Amino acid sequence: MNVIHLSAECYPVAKVGGLGDVVSALPKYQQLAGIYASVVMPYYDRKFVQENEFDVILESEFVMAGITLPFQVLKEKTDKLGFALHLIKIPGLLDRPEIYSYPDETEQFVAFQLAFLEWLTYFSIRPDVIHCHDHHTGLVPFLIKHSTRYNQFADIPTVLTIHNAQYQGWIGWEKFNYLPDVEPDKTGLLEWNDCINPLATAVKNCWAYTAVSPTYLKELTWNSNGLEPLFQAEQGKGLGIINGIDTEVWNPETDPMIRVNFSVETVATQKKENKKLITEEFGLKADKPLIAFIGRLVGEKGADLLPKAITEILTAYKDQVNILILGSGEHHIEDELSGLKDTFSGQYSVFIGYNEALSHRIYAGADFLVMPSRVEPCGLNQLYSLRYGTIPIVRSTGGLKDTVIDHSQPDGYGICFLNADVEDIYSAFYRAIELYQNTERVNLLRKRMMQLDYSWHQSASQYIELYNSLKK
Ligand code: ADP
Ligand code: GLC
Repeated sequence: MNVIHLSAECYPVAKVGGLGDVVSALPKYQQLAGIYASVVMPYYDRKFVQENEFDVILESEFVMAGITLPFQVLKEKTDKLGFALHLIKIPGLLDRPEIYSYPDETEQFVAFQLAFLEWLTYFSIRPDVIHCHDHHTGLVPFLIKHSTRYNQFADIPTVLTIHNAQYQGWIGWEKFNYLPDVEPDKTGLLEWNDCINPLATAVKNCWAYTAVSPTYLKELTWNSNGLEPLFQAEQGKGLGIINGIDTEVWNPETDPMIRVNFSVETVATQKKENKKLITEEFGLKADKPLIAFIGRLVGEKGADLLPKAITEILTAYKDQVNILILGSGEHHIEDELSGLKDTFSGQYSVFIGYNEALSHRIYAGADFLVMPSRVEPCGLNQLYSLRYGTIPIVRSTGGLKDTVIDHSQPDGYGICFLNADVEDIYSAFYRAIELYQNTERVNLLRKRMMQLDYSWHQSASQYIELYNSLKK
């Protein structure tokens, strides 16, 4: 079995969020499960690429919008990530530092997909499965079936994993000429609501799609940013597979990014040490509960609700609780969260930006991690928290619903709430402050959650079963 993962992100090469984590861990664990899995992603001018050695394995060209574009395929020499990593380099489009947000993002990702398909024409042995992740790779399942140049590969099964259906990669029809010639009666398969919609295209044309949690799979049929009727129609080929975590990278016993390593046996004492250090770093109080938020500061994550919820709880429980935020995103949310620093100095702090090492220190040092998400297809933060003995406070939606059980339930360990609103977040904060007073219970919950198994082993096998079911 030979599967190629196509993705815009893969940690540590390039990561903005959970997509990057998944596309580095899933192939690694699939390799461990005995199949050949590799990753193909765009070339980015970033640290990992600069610091590692690559072989150029192909130089060729393809045509986009009537223009011939040269490209290279590079392969990392040592498979150090646990799988073969390939980068596609296209001067001016796929050789820049950022992953997203260029004005020519459409050109960037269409070109990535066309170069990949062109590369496929050079393969001596065809892959058994092409596994596409999110809309950036969503045209491949269509082009491989219905473009006259690449439909020679129509019998290769394609799988789409939907990490987030909020983003769909919409392309105006005026850019239809970016695509190679397609069978004229099939152009409707590209369309959703008057534009080319790469995510919808992928759902229509893939052999099977997965959502990153069983609950999210269901939610897509009634909450998927306009694609609800499509998911209702296509649900027969959908499957919910919960994400795992890379337990080598996210292991409090060995994590080189945290200052005091700990295990389930030593969590009660050693976590306190990590908390002491992180509270010192941010001028907070080590003897009070520490609630953290890590993530993209966007509406999807409920981040816009935080400034008010934080203001209310820190006013009502002055000096009784600390809150620490790490994130970046919409500027007005960044500004509001930064603005609270002076008002609540000594019990609140915020780091605006992306900082991988700091995120590890916070998972290790915080008592609680809040995720008031409006939409959360899976969520990895709560899984990292569980592993680091940090009690998750989550809105029960998507993958959060599938992975966090309220501690009032038998075998529960988290704090769950129903609505993404200030009132529910406030009540959840209150429950956290109350719970923190009971040290014995907190320690029991920490041990309980640190022993949960959210490693990739099981989910990686579920994907392999899916691939096998698609083989003719
Ligand atoms: P999403 O992919 O929707 O952003 P996930 O919960 O799946 O959400 O994954 C988010 C990942 O990104 C986690 O690994 C989290 O630790 C990381 N992350 C998010 N924001 C930051 C940040 N500002 N600094 C460091 N890591 C971050
Ligand atoms: C997305 C989702 C997140 C999920 C991640 C990895 O970015 O927002 O919930 O965990 O992808 O699948």
